[in-house]
Amino acid sequence: MRLAPIMDFPLRDWSAPGVPALAGEASDALEHGRVLHFPLLGFHLLEEETALLDPALTHPKRKNISLSAGGVSGSVATGAQLALLHGLLRRYRDQASTLLDALFPRYRDARHTPATSLRLHAIGSWQPSWRKDDRRLLVDAFPSRPIHGERILRVFTNIHPDPKQVRAWRVGEPFEEVARRYLPRLDRPWRPMMAALMHRVGITKRRRTEYDHLMLQLHDQMKRDEAYQRGGVWLDVGFRPGSSWICFSDQVPHAAMSGQFMLEQTWMVPLSAMALPELAPVRVLERLTGRRLLAA
Ligand code: SIN
Repeated sequence: MRLAPIMDFPLRDWSAPGVPALAGEASDALEHGRVLHFPLLGFHLLEEETALLDPALTHPKRKNISLSAGGVSGSVATGAQLALLHGLLRRYRDQASTLLDALFPRYRDARHTPATSLRLHAIGSWQPSWRKDDRRLLVDAFPSRPIHGERILRVFTNIHPDPKQVRAWRVGEPFEEVARRYLPRLDRPWRPMMAALMHRVGITKRRRTEYDHLMLQLHDQMKRDEAYQRGGVWLDVGFRPGSSWICFSDQVPHAAMSGQFMLEQTWMVPLSAMALPELAPVRVLERLTGRRLLAA
């Protein structure tokens, strides 16, 4: 039986009172590749922060404004405006972290490398190439940051001030079906020497494993496949302003079709923290190829 790809949770509070009752259900749904939807969980902007909802604050060469260990990047803001941006991003990261601790206690000590983004551009207004076009169904994979089978856990919140401006997503079929469709077409073999060289010259932050190599090809094949992008299998979902949603974006095929003004928080989660590691993309691909894919 196929599970519905979206599961609703009636939380209103990021500190998630009473959540232990939901936690098992939430973690099971997440690891099965479902999108957890919190229709009543909005993020409150301070009055002075509403002026930050302006695409002109994003650096012209960047899609998003980001907060990572190195501070805020991707913005032209300076001085007090930059401090305001920093405060907003930090507050969102902290609230998302509180929620994840309540919902997924088994990831608490394992999740790492938080990255927060403020997405001010309307979908479709910033897309230098098909590879960066958010309107094409994809599973996430990072060209310069090999993840060695770790999971990409993401929290999203629509912060559009107009209550009618949904963030319209397509949520695609289960990961295994996508993998079965595309694996026979992934024809560029992984070459360990090439992976080592790319790392040595700084193209990648560490060596690509065969898993990273397959996921990148999968990402590119899906995005490039016009027939799949026009006639694939997906569910259309509109995430309303004042709502949040969570998924493993390495597992859930997704596309953002329209919308503007969103906050997003990413953490990496090791495979060893999964309750159901056999459902993770790396284990699915290993089963389908009959090979171990994590040798660096
Ligand atoms: C993404 O991060 O994959 C795009 C999702 C969105 O911008 O809504």
